[in-house]
Amino acid sequence: MLGALGLLLGQRINPLDGWIDWRGQRRYDRSAERMTELAMGLLIHDIGKISIPESVLNKPAKLTPEEWDLIKTHPSAGASMLSADRASALTICVVRDHHERWDGLGYERGRTGSDTHQFARIAAVADVYDAITADRPYKPANAPHVGVRVVREGAGSQFDPGVVEHFLRVVMPYPVGYSIPMPSGRSAVVAGVDAERPDRPLIRYHDESGRLLEAVMQVVDGAVQDPALAGDGRPTGDRAPDGADGHGPPTGGSLRELDRTATR
Ligand SMILES: [Fe+2]
Repeated sequence: MLGALGLLLGQRINPLDGWIDWRGQRRYDRSAERMTELAMGLLIHDIGKISIPESVLNKPAKLTPEEWDLIKTHPSAGASMLSADRASALTICVVRDHHERWDGLGYERGRTGSDTHQFARIAAVADVYDAITADRPYKPANAPHVGVRVVREGAGSQFDPGVVEHFLRVVMPYPVGYSIPMPSGRSAVVAGVDAERPDRPLIRYHDESGRLLEAVMQVVDGAVQDPALAGDGRPTGDRAPDGADGHGPPTGGSLRELDRTATR
């Protein structure tokens, strides 16, 4: 998950923003080679954790300050395992600096902003999102919208705001197929999402009579707001035709009954 997300971000950012070489010039070449080096870095970013006792790594309780200090050594431990003839400089950057923060409060070197390589800044975003949305021995997985919120709120402090901007274009808080509870208690599923309005996905659900309906709805903290409202918050009967307000929903959108066979 971390590797796929980091590579997705790299493949989006690389052709749009390019990279800065040692002369300070922006370049767009060596794309495939650089993506391979990023992928390798993402794959082995935590290799240094093999130097940390399992009892500390998977400790279900809160870590002591001494245990935290030990955990914080894993980036440099990993980098020291990778000699220059076995890994590229970019790959080693990802391993060594994936816990640095944009504001300099990360570890281990406390670098700020773009002093940390772009690939490590990408890995930092992917690593935190993955940690939040995956099960860990010390905590259950959180929903995608929780991970998206943490990344969005960390822009400019924990994370490179430019990387976060790209992240928010490719990672949706309520992805297609995601199950969302309705206020009625019935379950609903996300049937479409517009990256311009990710908090207002197209929701497919059954009404009280069993009809299968879909509507664009506001979702806040993982919960659908009033199902009687759709689109721009007007009752469904008053809603403008699809796209008439300049913000048409992704796949149709106004409340409508669906062919039941369509969901089989
Ligand atoms: Fe790590």
